[in-house]
Amino acid sequence: METLDQNLVSSWFDVQSVPQTFVHPPEKRPGNSIDVPPCKNIPVVDLGSRDRSHTIQQISKASQDFGFFQVFNHGVCKKLIDDIMSISKEFHKMPRKDKIIEGSKDPSGRCKFYTSSENYANEEVHYWRDALTHPAHSSENYMQFLPQKPTQYREVFKAYVDEVRNMGSMILEMLAEGLGLSKEFFNGGLSENPTLLSNHYPPCPDPTLTLGLTKHRDPSLITILLQDSEGLQVFKDGNWIGVEPISSGFVVNIGYVMQMISNSKFKGADHRVVTNSRAARTTIAYFIYPSNETVIEPANVLCNPPLYRSMKFTEFLQHFKSKAANDEEMSKVLSLSSS
Ligand code: OGA
Ligand code: NI
Repeated sequence: METLDQNLVSSWFDVQSVPQTFVHPPEKRPGNSIDVPPCKNIPVVDLGSRDRSHTIQQISKASQDFGFFQVFNHGVCKKLIDDIMSISKEFHKMPRKDKIIEGSKDPSGRCKFYTSSENYANEEVHYWRDALTHPAHSSENYMQFLPQKPTQYREVFKAYVDEVRNMGSMILEMLAEGLGLSKEFFNGGLSENPTLLSNHYPPCPDPTLTLGLTKHRDPSLITILLQDSEGLQVFKDGNWIGVEPISSGFVVNIGYVMQMISNSKFKGADHRVVTNSRAARTTIAYFIYPSNETVIEPANVLCNPPLYRSMKFTEFLQHFKSKAANDEEMSKVLSLSSS
């Protein structure tokens, strides 16, 4: 706890230069690509459209081509979007002692406040962010472990996740149909563990040298992200492209688990976060994860031949934790020939 107390980026970011421990090696730092133009090709989809089959087509194509799309008309009301964004900003603005206390009530450690990555002690270089994460269940049993400061936190969180859950189910149903699976395919164990992550990226004196998050693919089924300003970039055909924030819209991306179940028909997209020197950036990610014991494997109808072997989600996560930095390695351990 003491180490965290001293290390929070938000506690000392107001410096003249980027500390050495945050300077990434030349091949990984963003350099001039902090300012790539936002990409107009990432599809923006009307989730409320009456032409459901057209919507399914759009999100399926986006999931094949980019592993990313944005949605509007999604059923999550604007007030809740504004409220969750403000309450997250308020949380990250609190004195560091309060953040540490409020983010450590859960004895199992699933509600957690941390800085950089969850692996601070062992990572070679640090990232320019603080984060609060916890399960996105709104059950009374779990609510007792969530922050009580800011005072509205629990209430806003509950109202927000109740609506985001519905949007998530709607998107999963359409993705299932797009793959030729039954609408309910992702219900149950495969989507049982939604998790919230509130990222805070303070302004940075030199964004060319460091990153908010390194290049990665999410270990989720899908991720639904709310972003207040630009900073998210997707790696596509050898180039970084920016994901432009759209007002009251969400960014949806395909995670590794969906890539495996779809037998690579849908691609998990590599993405990263760059910082900026002007203003703090806040994002709220809602990851849809399977429960630990759920078996993940390519859906039968898509297996010609299967590209991945079956494994429990816990096993997948172990591989992910040790190999996440290297995509090729990850593909090797997940593929059938490695069993
Ligand atoms: C993540 C992520 C993007 C962002 O938390 O996995 O990719 O813009 N976040 O914060
Ligand atoms: Ni991500």
